[in-house]
Amino acid sequence: MLNKPYIILKYAKSIDNYIGQKNKSIWLTNNYSKRLVHKWRAEVDAILVGSGTVSADNPRLTTRFDFGNSPLRVVLDGSLNLDVNNSVFNNEAKTIVFTKKNNKHQKTKGKIKYFVPNCWTLEEMLSILHREGVRSIIIEGGQKVLKSFVANDLWDEARVLVAKKELFMGLKAPELNCKPMKEFRLLTDTVQIYKNPKLIR
Ligand SMILES: NC(=O)c1ccc[n+]([C@@H]2O[C@H](COP(=O)([O-])OP(=O)(O)OC[C@H]3O[C@@H](n4cnc5c(N)ncnc54)[C@H](OP(=O)(O)O)[C@@H]3O)[C@@H](O)[C@H]2O)c1
Repeated sequence: MLNKPYIILKYAKSIDNYIGQKNKSIWLTNNYSKRLVHKWRAEVDAILVGSGTVSADNPRLTTRFDFGNSPLRVVLDGSLNLDVNNSVFNNEAKTIVFTKKNNKHQKTKGKIKYFVPNCWTLEEMLSILHREGVRSIIIEGGQKVLKSFVANDLWDEARVLVAKKELFMGLKAPELNCKPMKEFRLLTDTVQIYKNPKLIR
């Protein structure tokens, strides 16, 4: 059996089911949701994003709007294209980069640790993270990364923040093909909690 952390998918979507638009940074949800997300971050060991999200949004991936330590940040950057001046590489937390490029960067630099997995699969990366002590992880996007986790059925739970805004076009939200187990309002936003149906007996 695969040694992997507990996996929580997390994303915000517009009421018409888009998570954003290509190469644009669009903020969909309200400040209450933002704070809730920071609380969730403080409850897990790691947060993972793809290189597309780092390029588009330059997120810091910290817990600065709530209490608790910022978890380990994990970035999928196969081609090692991301500039180390991006906020995700700052000193506010440790960062692991998964890359295919076996070059001089493949070593620890300050708080950044580089890994070149033997095979480029999410299972392999999750097993490395498990070995590094990660027992729970939030997958924060973007579209390609979320899609890969869903396609490989690598998720235990999903937390979806539905904003009132419409985007009319853009990057479609992942299809979970199940109904939320729980739903609650946060002012203008709706929070939906899903459990992977394969785990419910
Ligand atoms: N609404 C939300 O909650 C939310 C959250 C986050 C992002 N977003 C939005 O989503 C957009 C970015 O999404 P995106 O799809 O362009 O990029 P992304 O999913 O953040 O990153 C995709 C990149 O990650 C790397 N990658 C490596 N292994 C992968 C794997 N197994 N599966 C998928 N990707 C892998 C690939 O780049 P390499 O070839 O370099 O490895 C790939 O091109 C932005 O517009 C952002 O604003 C929205």
